[in-house]
Amino acid sequence: MSHLIEYGIPPLHRDWDIKDMVGADNLEAVQHGVIKFITDLNVIKDGNCLYIYSVENGTGKTRTANFILYQLHKPRLDEKGNGVIIPILSVMFGEYLRFCKDTFGEDSKEARRIVMMTPILLLDDVSPVFSLSNVQNDRAELLMLMAYRRNHKLVTVITSNLTPDEFQKLYGPSASSKVLENFSFIQVIGGDVRQAIYPDQLQESDEPEDDEACR
Ligand SMILES: Nc1ncnc2c1ncn2[C@@H]1O[C@H](COP(=O)(O)OP(=O)(O)OP(=O)(O)O)[C@@H](O)[C@H]1O
Ligand SMILES: [Mg+2]
Repeated sequence: MSHLIEYGIPPLHRDWDIKDMVGADNLEAVQHGVIKFITDLNVIKDGNCLYIYSVENGTGKTRTANFILYQLHKPRLDEKGNGVIIPILSVMFGEYLRFCKDTFGEDSKEARRIVMMTPILLLDDVSPVFSLSNVQNDRAELLMLMAYRRNHKLVTVITSNLTPDEFQKLYGPSASSKVLENFSFIQVIGGDVRQAIYPDQLQESDEPEDDEACR
């Protein structure tokens, strides 16, 4: 148990169904991809993984990934016919990097260990935006995490604003081939849904910016 980890689905993304998704230009393809992944029995058995990406921010990737976790967490029968509930965990990539960096903190060490070993993991927002040091360090942490999870057939869902090509350019072909070895891909095409959901907050102001106030 670590105090740094939040178990379960965050309140913002609870009680939501993929059929209520809005915004994406390729809505049906995304919904189809999600249903295919959550109903594929080999996903849990083989530890298959999913990479959800979009070029734009705010297309609903994190929400979609949380829906998948919620579905995979529902009671199911294992291979011997016993009822099981498979543990899930969601962590932002940037937060995971913070656990890795804090090599002396007991809570961080424990949090890192739990993230590595959790049966179903959402690794949210894999991008350089949350980098704490440099790309080489991020790549090494990502490789170690994913090698462990691959070896133990653990399911990982990644969300990212990097297309698979950009991922490869940033982290290199070798890292890309190792990390994304057994992944399926869902691209969410479209713009930021926050603008439709919260139009008042995001409307551009008619007032000129008060530069003085910012200084
Ligand atoms: N169908 C929906 N109904 C209501 N709110 C939604 C819906 N889809 C997304 N949202 C809200 O829109 C916002 C953006 O969704 P989300 O965080 O999943 O996008 P994202 O693609 O992960 O964004 P980012 O690229 O910034 O990580 C969130 O606040 C989410 O709660
Ligand atoms: Mg997100």
